[in-house]
Amino acid sequence: MPKAELHIHIEGSLEPQMIFELARRNGIALPYASVQDLRSAYAFTDLQSFLDLYYQGAGVLQTEEDFCEMALAYLARAAMDNVVHAEIFFDPQTHTERGVAMQTVVRGLARACEEAQQRHGISASLILSFLRHLSEREAFATLEQALPLREHFIGVGLDSSELGHPPEKFQRVFARCRELGLHIVAHAGEEGPPAYIWQALDLLRAERIDHGVQAVHDTALMQRLAAERVPLTVCPLSNQKLQVFPDLRQHNLKALLDGGLVATANSDDPAYFGGYLNDNLLQVFAATGMGVQHAWQLAAHSFEASFAPAADKARWM
Ligand code: ADE
Ligand code: ZN
Repeated sequence: MPKAELHIHIEGSLEPQMIFELARRNGIALPYASVQDLRSAYAFTDLQSFLDLYYQGAGVLQTEEDFCEMALAYLARAAMDNVVHAEIFFDPQTHTERGVAMQTVVRGLARACEEAQQRHGISASLILSFLRHLSEREAFATLEQALPLREHFIGVGLDSSELGHPPEKFQRVFARCRELGLHIVAHAGEEGPPAYIWQALDLLRAERIDHGVQAVHDTALMQRLAAERVPLTVCPLSNQKLQVFPDLRQHNLKALLDGGLVATANSDDPAYFGGYLNDNLLQVFAATGMGVQHAWQLAAHSFEASFAPAADKARWM
């Protein structure tokens, strides 16, 4: 089934094998004896317990080539799952804070997007994501650094530790991003309350909500999301591994679709959560009894919700 993937953090596609390879190449010491040792550390209790390891893993990325290789590996793997279009988050602050230049990150990733189109026929674009555990001032500084590379990304997002960092904290920087014509998305309602989803819509003017699964606790919000066809980029295996729905049988993707929401399925951080997009689909379908109708809905929603040009969408749908 051809489909788009709209919620993938490229640093979350860094497989343990590649972490070790890049650490060796860049002379970086890892606190793990082996790939297996690292993999066995992937037992998460919540979002923060994952983020601690995710930022540590991303610390092996140094050169433009590293970023390019990482993204090419993801895009080749996604193409195997019949992903024909991907909108990819990257977290520049994770790298610029370590002394890696913004252009090293963006040029490496942008080169991978171009090459993957040639090699695999997959289209890909980049979304710059601000880290919400840092300040709005730091987000403004990041935007400033990225603007000379504006042609290489289509939008901005908001990720990292959700609880205690509501969307309202970033209202001004997102207003600036809107003036610049950037698409707006935000993680909201992953672990955080429905109020964070309202804020993402009303204060940031998010065009899509990343995760959003906590919306089910607010009837008025569910009605609004359905009426305005605001897409949710849902990530089943991520929610299971981070204990949002510890048992996949309790996942609410089917309920969101049946409630008329434009829900999509995505892999979030596939190297950490045990599966790429088709694994997510197969496992959530098996666990919750979704059927072929849901599959076609998810594929159609993924294209509808994408920021791809209308002509491409028409071709895919
Ligand atoms: N960064 C990478 N994956 C994330 C997630 N699932 N939630 C918030 N920030 C993230
Ligand atoms: Zn995410």
